[in-house]
Amino acid sequence: MNFERIRQDFPILNKLVYLDSACMSLKPIQVIEKINEYYKEYPGCGGRGVHSISKKVDEEVFKARKEIQKLFNIKKESQIVFSKNTTESLNLVYNGLNIKGNIITTDKEHNSNLLPVIKLCRERGMKHIIVNSNNCVFDLADFEKKMNKGISLVSMVHTSNLDGSTIPAKEIIKIAHDNNSIVMLDGAQSAPHKEIDLKKLDADLFACSGHKMLGPTGIGMLYGKEEILEKLNPLIVGGETVTNSTYNSYEIEKVPNRFEAGLQHYSGIIGFGEACNYLRKVGMDNIMKQELKVNQIIDDGLRPIGGINILGPEDVRFRPGITSFTYKNKDVHQIALLLDHSKKIMMRSGMHCVHSWFNKHNLKGSVRASLYLYNNEEDAHKLVEGFKHVTKVIG
Ligand code: ALA
Repeated sequence: MNFERIRQDFPILNKLVYLDSACMSLKPIQVIEKINEYYKEYPGCGGRGVHSISKKVDEEVFKARKEIQKLFNIKKESQIVFSKNTTESLNLVYNGLNIKGNIITTDKEHNSNLLPVIKLCRERGMKHIIVNSNNCVFDLADFEKKMNKGISLVSMVHTSNLDGSTIPAKEIIKIAHDNNSIVMLDGAQSAPHKEIDLKKLDADLFACSGHKMLGPTGIGMLYGKEEILEKLNPLIVGGETVTNSTYNSYEIEKVPNRFEAGLQHYSGIIGFGEACNYLRKVGMDNIMKQELKVNQIIDDGLRPIGGINILGPEDVRFRPGITSFTYKNKDVHQIALLLDHSKKIMMRSGMHCVHSWFNKHNLKGSVRASLYLYNNEEDAHKLVEGFKHVTKVIG
């Protein structure tokens, strides 16, 4: 795979070093053109009209669903529900699934998968059980010990946005299913970087966001097994979620239409489909190998610097897309600002919406390099040199 060629699809890379893809990925020109195509050529409404522009929107939305289906090897395209993002997908499940038993999560959940659990447990009096990690690595033995038939939902971040490590999902799902529990994965950080075969993985629910996987903002999806989506109550109802209504009743639409109320983010859906097509053509394994190669250079360059503390597994193979670090007791935002102002390197700093983990470890946050298919060795060397320059400035 020619990754230097791929970089040309992201012209902004001529101006800066972009290392914040865990927050927001760049968009290739193919995706941008597809979004423009919608606005220029068929800027209508889907699902309602019989005229040709409306029908074209329906056709393109269907194609997008098919692209997502192919990328994740999903049995039926109707198992894909469009949402605003991962956060909305997760909230749809917490609000709509009649969960009665306890919920188990990791100790590194993003606020989008922690806050709804806290809220639900408060409202319904269920217990929130947390599996510990050792040096950021999921403790399968601790999970097995804590798992029991009283747990209704195992809901976990598949790949952590704070350190890039991935949980052993297959093993977790097997243990959970043996205990009659449902498994939901927050795939916001895994879907953009890993081969995910949802048939083989056997997760019951899986959520991800378009904006982290080369797609536009404001579009995400929830995958669910058919029998679970059938049991799920919609988060909102309205136009296109019913087949009929009277003044005091309505007949709910089939899945997934019942979850997609009101006019949809058509350009977003169509752009998301194009992004999935792009990723599939490059190949998820190739993407992971490229990230690993670049991350190894970052790790080799940063680790020997005195006072640096890289979070997560020492071996970059277990966190291929991310290097997250602290430096002495220095302000992480100051480091990120200096990298931007002096070297045009864009990195996120802070607690990355995982306040709970940072608070537990008495850390004020980290500076995070998060990679994608468009990063190359030169980016890695620039970061290492840039950071050495910053250490001279801040001591
Ligand atoms: N979850 C996103 C990040 O880690 C916003 O930056």
